[in-house]
Amino acid sequence: MRSYHPALLGGVFALLAACSQPADRPQVYYEPYRPQYHFSPDSMWMNDPNGLVHDGERYHLFYQYHPFDKVWGPMHWGHATSEDLVFWEHQPIALYPDQNGTIFSGSAVMDFSNTSGLGTADQPPMVAIFSYFDADGPKETNQTQGIAYSLDKGKTWTKYANNPVIDNPGEPDFRDPKVFWHEASSSWILALVAGDHMQLYRSDNLIDWELSSTFGQDVGAHGGVWECPDLFPLEINGETHWVLLISINPGGPNGGSATQYFIGDFDGNSFTSDQTEIRWVDFGPDNYAGVTYNNTPDNSRLFMGWMSNWQYAQEVPTSPWRSASTLPRTLSLESREDQLYLKSSPIEALKKLKSPHSFDAEIFEASGTLDLVSDQAHLKLAVSAQSSKLVFENERLAALSIEVDRDLGRILIDRSKAGKTDFNETFNQPIVVEFDPASDQTLLDLWIDRSSIEVFVDDGAAVTTVLFFSEAPFTQLMATSRQGGIRLEEFNQVSRIW
Ligand code: FRU
Repeated sequence: MRSYHPALLGGVFALLAACSQPADRPQVYYEPYRPQYHFSPDSMWMNDPNGLVHDGERYHLFYQYHPFDKVWGPMHWGHATSEDLVFWEHQPIALYPDQNGTIFSGSAVMDFSNTSGLGTADQPPMVAIFSYFDADGPKETNQTQGIAYSLDKGKTWTKYANNPVIDNPGEPDFRDPKVFWHEASSSWILALVAGDHMQLYRSDNLIDWELSSTFGQDVGAHGGVWECPDLFPLEINGETHWVLLISINPGGPNGGSATQYFIGDFDGNSFTSDQTEIRWVDFGPDNYAGVTYNNTPDNSRLFMGWMSNWQYAQEVPTSPWRSASTLPRTLSLESREDQLYLKSSPIEALKKLKSPHSFDAEIFEASGTLDLVSDQAHLKLAVSAQSSKLVFENERLAALSIEVDRDLGRILIDRSKAGKTDFNETFNQPIVVEFDPASDQTLLDLWIDRSSIEVFVDDGAAVTTVLFFSEAPFTQLMATSRQGGIRLEEFNQVSRIW
């Protein structure tokens, strides 16, 4: 009897699959659950976005990457570039482990004035500032901060010869440096986390750093270790306020990992905030370690997060890769009842992926169904009903449901029947999102991809990012409502980026 080698059979299936795809597209990124318009590495493990910087021509996305396995391990910086944060080009690995350790999260800046002396006036360096993790060193001191530089806009990298540039003072969790140029004090500022608080350092040259202040031991959420800080200014009504992002793991509002924010002031040395309540960048379980871009062309504040959660990230049923990034989002401030809040909305450039479907505007009075055509969809809904339910369904009767309760100001998302959940016991817990139902309708901006949904409530006043692993695409939306209706305002197909 003739037998076929599995690799050969695999090749035949790949060929068959390729034949059923449009001829003008590359035959990649069609695996089960593969995000179609979110960034994901072609293979192996990814976590946090790192080194988010625009170099004058292109956006860079570096990311925590383990090139040899689908679970976390010795970290490298993977690399991708983009002109618009929508379409991505994979690049070779940027930073490899060295004698100081593996490469944890951090940031990147363009040192245009060559303050570091690592480039020249004509060839200013891109400088990456990251944490080293020495797995063999003592826990109390095995995380330090190092730098590396590139003179060809991120293509090739050289580690600074005298790393680390910040030694460990005896803090077991001492990491994730975010550096930015602070115009008012003409200095580089570095924010890092040390277990349960943030530390700020300043420098003239990105090499010599001096501790200037600490923040946060007694404020905010402390259900887990503080990670991935980011500090940046945002303007509202002609006034500048400073926003601090802090990721915590565990201790998020829906379990596991999440990112909180503080609004306050920064004087070049210290960050201060009067905020007493805990605020979340995203209520969902699947937006972690998000930070913002340095040096954006129009000064906008652009954010990307890691679309997963440490509770189950290493077990999700995807192959040959694990994890994706959230949609890039523009951050802004909003004032409500004399309080400032952070808003996030999907970046404008994503509109190039949308092509409108036609629809009947009022289809969701009391109840209705919408044929989604595919599971790559963007929907804008105006919900005036006091209570309503949206259910995404497929032919296998899997269902992802979103219940909006405008009396309570609460959205309940249930992914327990939305496909595979058995890889981790926490995955089927209900997800609760709080929002302010102050006006007579609630706007929902829904972006659904092959294995994720992002819900932006009232132009991003509340956000939730949720993964699911449905074997077949959700192609139908069923809606029911009580005391009022749901108006469909926009319905777009979202095209794939690969
Ligand atoms: C956050 C984090 C960071 C760390 C990195 C290691 O997800 O734990 O604090 O630098 O991941 O991969």
